[in-house]
Amino acid sequence: MSKSKGTKGPGKARKPPHASTIKISGRVTPKATVKVTAKGTNHGNAKGTGASGRGLAVRVKSAKFRPVGSTAWLKRQLNDPYVALAKAEGWRSRAAYKLIEMDDKLHLLKPGKRVVDLGAAPGGWTQVAVQRVKAQDGKGKVVALDILPWENVAGATCITLDFLDDSAPAILKQAMGGPADIVLSDMAAPTTGHGPTDHLRIIGLAEAAWQFATEVLAPGGTFICKVFQGGTEGKLLKMLKTRCAVVKHIKPPASRKGSAEVYVVALEFKG
Ligand SMILES: C[S@@+](CC[C@H](N)C(=O)[O-])C[C@H]1O[C@@H](n2cnc3c(N)ncnc32)[C@H](O)[C@@H]1O
Repeated sequence: MSKSKGTKGPGKARKPPHASTIKISGRVTPKATVKVTAKGTNHGNAKGTGASGRGLAVRVKSAKFRPVGSTAWLKRQLNDPYVALAKAEGWRSRAAYKLIEMDDKLHLLKPGKRVVDLGAAPGGWTQVAVQRVKAQDGKGKVVALDILPWENVAGATCITLDFLDDSAPAILKQAMGGPADIVLSDMAAPTTGHGPTDHLRIIGLAEAAWQFATEVLAPGGTFICKVFQGGTEGKLLKMLKTRCAVVKHIKPPASRKGSAEVYVVALEFKG
């Protein structure tokens, strides 16, 4: 674990890619019609014209030894405006925009807030959290963990550890040194391609994250967690509803339309 100096985050001089640049409208439910509009950024290309603004899709030839799925993945990455925008704006992952979009709606990551970020690598959410709670100005605090080795994010305490390891909760609590206002989990085990198995694995991680959240969240706190829509998340929702005043789903525009991924947001933890 290290309180990182890390590599620099999105450039200070660069205008952050949120608030003034991204506007979400629509009801916030999994069925919501959400719309991203852009002012002066490549978000205007979110309809798939290519982040470069050229309006040209990148074609990917299948390579002899590249599996069909990898070619499709590569093609999607190369034509994904969020991927290019993340690169241009200094976020480590396109996933950063999912948190930006959710927080632009919920206004939770305020200066001084204390955040735990589970499943944090390569660090997009961690960068967003550090920037918004102003952790580098000595205000808020961000403790982030991933099972994979990852590069420190400046301003955050970055831990490499399996969250399901028995030692993880105590290590995280020690790193926090006090209660958390927000527990984020974007954890996802590598997919097997077998839907029910993948769903069970992600729900296992989500339930473990919630268990941990109940131990560290301050009253009034928030839990945000990735799940897959349409699966067996009933037990988790039931647990959340008994301990939090508001429980809802959000599918931010940056979450790919075809994916079953959705975020459960539990607000106003009752303690
Ligand atoms: C979708 S990625 C997270 C992306 C991240 N939020 C960002 O913005 O860059 C999911 C992460 O969950 C991590 N993960 C999966 N199982 C885990 C576990 N048992 N403990 C810790 N991290 C885990 C993976 O290693 C992966 O980096």
